[in-house]
Amino acid sequence: MRTHYCGALQRAHLDQIVTVVGWAHRRRDHGGVIFIDLRDREGMLQVVSDPDRADSFHVAEQVRSEFVLKITGRVRLRPEGTHNANLPTGEIELLAHHIEVLNPSATPPFQMDDESLSENVRLTWRYLDLRRPAMQSNLRLRYRVAKTLRDHLDRNGFMEIETPMLTRSTPEGARDYLVPSRVHAGQFYALPQSPQLFKQLLMVSGFDRYFQITKCFRDEDLRADRQPEFTQVDIETSFMDEEQIMDLVEHMIRDLFKEVLDVELPKPFPRMPWSEAMRRYGSDKPDLRVALELTDLTDLMKSVDFKVFRAAADQADGRVAALRLPGGASLSRKDIDDLTEFVKIYGAKGLAWIKVNDVSQLNDTGLQSPIVKFLPEPVLADILRRTGAGNGDLIFFGADKEKIVNDALGALRLRVGTPEGDWRPLWVVDFPMFEYNADEHRWDALHHPFTAPKPGHEHLLSENPGAALSRAYDMVLNGWEIGGGSVRIHQQAVQDIVFRALGISSEQAREKFGFLLDALQFGAPPHGGLAFGLDRLVALMAGAESIRDVIAFPKTQRANDLMVQAPNNVDEKQLRELHIRLRQAEAPKA
Ligand code: AMO
Ligand code: AMP
Repeated sequence: MRTHYCGALQRAHLDQIVTVVGWAHRRRDHGGVIFIDLRDREGMLQVVSDPDRADSFHVAEQVRSEFVLKITGRVRLRPEGTHNANLPTGEIELLAHHIEVLNPSATPPFQMDDESLSENVRLTWRYLDLRRPAMQSNLRLRYRVAKTLRDHLDRNGFMEIETPMLTRSTPEGARDYLVPSRVHAGQFYALPQSPQLFKQLLMVSGFDRYFQITKCFRDEDLRADRQPEFTQVDIETSFMDEEQIMDLVEHMIRDLFKEVLDVELPKPFPRMPWSEAMRRYGSDKPDLRVALELTDLTDLMKSVDFKVFRAAADQADGRVAALRLPGGASLSRKDIDDLTEFVKIYGAKGLAWIKVNDVSQLNDTGLQSPIVKFLPEPVLADILRRTGAGNGDLIFFGADKEKIVNDALGALRLRVGTPEGDWRPLWVVDFPMFEYNADEHRWDALHHPFTAPKPGHEHLLSENPGAALSRAYDMVLNGWEIGGGSVRIHQQAVQDIVFRALGISSEQAREKFGFLLDALQFGAPPHGGLAFGLDRLVALMAGAESIRDVIAFPKTQRANDLMVQAPNNVDEKQLRELHIRLRQAEAPKA
């Protein structure tokens, strides 16, 4: 129907007769002349209809927002002084000869250039929301990223292989989405939390280099960077160690940023042991654009009388730490009260603080604080020395179980700090194999149960599980975990020990992962890999606040699709076929 895209017309097309199609973004009546901004995938074009051409002018008068139009006309220069430098087509306009309404539109629920829409409105009318230039650009970027990564992997000998969606539970740590079987009464498939086990089996099959851009499903609490279904760029290789794998994918991400954003990422990406990340930033995905760091005070507080600090310092899994905010002495009481409420989200019981007015006076005058009276001078001096605090600074304190202090001060650090610089990638390495689950009194895998222990740490798996480190690595960018993986266990004996450390009995292991244990017996090659979260990667590259902005049809925080209205009730007949009867409380009201 068209000769050109609206957004592609330029000065070079002057005086050509062209036909464009698109949506009426806006119509303006200017005393006798009608302007229509016509929008298509490639951009916006100003169309002018004047009364000299009565037929087309009459049609132009009927045009309303979001009508679909086909317009033939002559490209001409806009009059002097009316150029729009913000628009690629801003020098020209189309003088309409013929306007045809291909389809009218009902009055849209919002204007496509409204910046103030609530997310509920946007998601309810998502197909209209996606018309907006910002969303068009996000989805185009997403395609470019996926294509660039796919091409890169292809050039490096990786083969894309699909794995099943109807499968059984894979232990990535979230709750499964289950699909009832009609054929097998009372039995369920699970949607994959990742293709983890299948890609390991493909290595056993000898494919050597696998990748897949695929959906994964996790029923977990949703946040800005989490969706119940999301996309991984999933990778697995044989006969490569962690150095080679990390080098390979780091290369891929550097090329991606260069090609798509023309950004040079640092070479190589810095690396940080997990324990250092936790100590300095209270997080396993530190945003290095924020300069603030935590200072450990646990040893120092073992000698004080102040109960809050002393009790935490004396606990086996306790921590006392400080966060210095340069210039923070200017915060008001209200500011500090707000921050105290903020850290409570992370389980903190309070937020002690010291305003440093004069470092030479270790008393109520020099140091303004609710806790100075509980701390002896030498301890105060040591706090100032360790944190490097100077006049005008504020020091925050966290004292509790290590996890709470890290979560609370780690989040506070991002809340009060200012990011500087553009892109700060980081590899986090030397993860522990296990983390203690105090509620269930057992060890859980920090990555997943197929992650190999560091050479030399095998004996710790049973002797001192908390001290065993793994061959896992996470790629972090600006405070987001964008990818993670590991070298896997390829020997059945080691896999057995890890299952045992996790409290999984031989029978349970056999029942759940028998196929994997069997496969490891038939010449499984050493192998490893990782998976990137495509949604997160694209969101960062797009400068989006949430991954929902780079997913065509995402779900809300409550896992609803507001447009198609999923999940929804189903017929009694369908349930019966699936051998399911709802409990009374959950049955839909008639
Ligand atoms: P992991 O669980 O770390 O590893 O997932 C890999 C990456 O996927 C992204 N991601 C998510 N993105 C959006 N919404 C979610 N709910 C979500 N959960 C995870 C993150 C994360 O880094 N099988 C292993 C990979 C491996 O070992 O090779 C795995 O799935 O960016
Ligand atoms: P309290 O003695 O409970 O009034 O607490 C004195 C100061 O310590 C207050 O500023 C509290 O906010 C702070 N505080 C209390 N518990 C903690 C904690 N676990 N970690 C850090 N600060 C705390």
